[in-house]
Amino acid sequence: MSGNGQLKINIGCGLSGVAGWYNIDNSPTILLSRIPFAQKLFRLPQWPPNIHRRDVRKGLHFGDGSVDCIYSSHTFEHFTWKESLYIARECFRVLKPGGVFRIVVPDLQRVVRDYLKDPSDHASQVFLDRLSLNHNLHDWIHPGSNHSQMFDERSLGHLFREAGFAKPQVKMFMQSEIPDIGDVELAVRKDESLYMEACRTPR
Ligand SMILES: C[S@@+](CC[C@H](N)C(=O)[O-])C[C@H]1O[C@@H](n2cnc3c(N)ncnc32)[C@H](O)[C@@H]1O
Repeated sequence: MSGNGQLKINIGCGLSGVAGWYNIDNSPTILLSRIPFAQKLFRLPQWPPNIHRRDVRKGLHFGDGSVDCIYSSHTFEHFTWKESLYIARECFRVLKPGGVFRIVVPDLQRVVRDYLKDPSDHASQVFLDRLSLNHNLHDWIHPGSNHSQMFDERSLGHLFREAGFAKPQVKMFMQSEIPDIGDVELAVRKDESLYMEACRTPR
């Protein structure tokens, strides 16, 4: 249990190890940063101790129907479609009936809209940079460096439904069925994100 007797999971938490949550991230720098001389030598970020290093592409190590809510911000776009579907199905499996699943991703529609109204000569470069779809060595050092896909409302809704969540809903920043959403939702993501969530009802 992470807090209030509830099990709440934060997938791809980054450096924000939220108290009361089971925070998961798979950056290779997590373990290295816990060795003091390595942390200094490579100038690694200070990963909080309450972050568990796990690769969710290998599944979620929780029992069926054992989790109260799952939150994931700016992480699902780093998975391929096939990986994201597997992970979303794992989320469906581990959530309790009535449990809440919330995904926050960069909003492709917003990026396209910005491109279409940008009159500058390098609008196309800005657009492609924001998609960040080119993989390189950085992906190994920091698996959050580049994207493998981008979502809009339709594709994210499709992901939820394919995973078993019957009625995904678009939400606003901080609008959620998750109690104390303010503990985990990041204000810095507000203006670039698409928020979607669903309750796990029995199939
Ligand atoms: C762009 S960061 C987002 C961090 C934070 N949630 C936010 O919104 O600012 C994506 C995070 O997902 C993590 N990540 C990527 N692939 C992962 C995987 N397979 N399993 C667990 N975490 C992963 C990365 O290490 C990175 O910290």
